[in-house]
Amino acid sequence: MAPSHPPPSSDPLREQLARNSSPYADPLARVAWDRLSLADWWLPPEALSLHGLETFAALPEPQRRALSHYEFLHTVEMGLWLEGLFMERLTRSLRAGRDNLPRLIYHLHELREEAGHSLMFLHLIQRAGLPRPPLRRGGLRLLALLARATPFDSLPFWAAVLIGEEVPDRFNRYIKRHGHGLCPAILDVVRVHMMDEARHVTHALDTLSMHLAGTSARRRRLLRPLLGLLFRRFVDAFYYPAPALYELAGLSPGRAWARAARTNPVRRAFVHAQTESLRRLLARYGVSPD
Ligand SMILES: [Fe+2]
Ligand SMILES: [Fe+2]
Repeated sequence: MAPSHPPPSSDPLREQLARNSSPYADPLARVAWDRLSLADWWLPPEALSLHGLETFAALPEPQRRALSHYEFLHTVEMGLWLEGLFMERLTRSLRAGRDNLPRLIYHLHELREEAGHSLMFLHLIQRAGLPRPPLRRGGLRLLALLARATPFDSLPFWAAVLIGEEVPDRFNRYIKRHGHGLCPAILDVVRVHMMDEARHVTHALDTLSMHLAGTSARRRRLLRPLLGLLFRRFVDAFYYPAPALYELAGLSPGRAWARAARTNPVRRAFVHAQTESLRRLLARYGVSPD
């Protein structure tokens, strides 16, 4: 008699990714926490939002270094926000599609890895002993709404996942490439995250490709403004911190420094260079964010 349920589907990519995710390596155990120091820079000076401004260059080194601590913490806060949303959606997706075992298994690997990253981030915040810089909630509210409302199995959802993983990942790559002399514990955090993200990005890209294959050119065109908005809001929130962050770093008034960052041509060029390849990739898929 034929089985009453369909056989488990085969999915070579997700099976391979799941194998690469094993054995699980706890991020908390992969960071040299005792080497975390506020006496070191946490970001290369060129990656700071105020880099290139004479008024900033004229400040004493400890103050510029303090901004590197808070701007790195800002990327950590963005990571927590993003991973929280993604874990929420991954958890909810486990109830659907129970016949696709390779996919379910891989999603649980991702869930475990994202939980590990968030734990690592919280541990870093705790050990740093610095106040947590707030995120610019205004711009992120719409993104959270979209992330929660779009169906899990849809092109916009996986385009959003790709953007949310690629933008921070490319910044991490920059930090690693220019990491000479940076705080060793921070470099560990960056490295751990990058290693897992490489698999996550592969998975997001493949899932997005599958959705694109089933989407007409007309619908892609219709989705472009939405994805463009999502891309711009996310890049903006990631690269331009809130005024309160500058205040925490001792740069007052924070509002004026935040405005200076936003109009800083060196920062704009840096952000453009960091996001250019993702922009090109999305354009190749017919969902250019520009
Ligand atoms: Fe992550
Ligand atoms: Fe991820």
